[in-house]
Amino acid sequence: MAVGGAFYVKTRWMSMPGTLRADEREEILRHGKRVAMMAADIYEKLPFSLSNELGPLATVMDGAIYHDVGKARIPSAILNKAGYLTEEEWTLMRQHPILGMQDYLAASRDSGVDAVHRDRVAQLILRHHERKDGSGYYGFLEDDPGVWFIGMLDMYTAMREVRVYRQEPMSKESIVTQLAATYPEAFLRHLKPYLPS
Ligand SMILES: [Fe+2]
Ligand SMILES: [Fe+2]
Repeated sequence: MAVGGAFYVKTRWMSMPGTLRADEREEILRHGKRVAMMAADIYEKLPFSLSNELGPLATVMDGAIYHDVGKARIPSAILNKAGYLTEEEWTLMRQHPILGMQDYLAASRDSGVDAVHRDRVAQLILRHHERKDGSGYYGFLEDDPGVWFIGMLDMYTAMREVRVYRQEPMSKESIVTQLAATYPEAFLRHLKPYLPS
């Protein structure tokens, strides 16, 4: 069952639009899976009042897996640029949540996926770069625990990954400072056991 599910996600993922090489797309999928695995692990430990606000685990996990699928449409030279992005490059980069939402909706349209699940996953993809403090994009600013949960785990996962512009994972202190400024303590509390020592 698990193997079939994983195969299904990868097949759908790799067939969605994009200009990246297969290995680059797979790396983005691996990032999404890391966020999803962490989401599943923490979700089960949350008090019911909080997990209830997040909605079904399957929806949260799909939101996590697909959150960056729109990056497959961003040119490799921008995604893998070692230096600062120009304003124009940033404008393109900031489109990946909208592109991802559109591509996810198109790919899942006739797949038999429940409409409520599908709409919610699309919303999580669209909003995953919003931050509770109003920074980030696109800044709809509606309080949404699901958006904060996936955003926090995405930010944490990204900070622990080696990127072309950063050869070392970020330190515990930097991670805590950035996350504490951005996400509610109710969620941060549950992330603390995962922080590096
Ligand atoms: Fe993203
Ligand atoms: Fe991400």
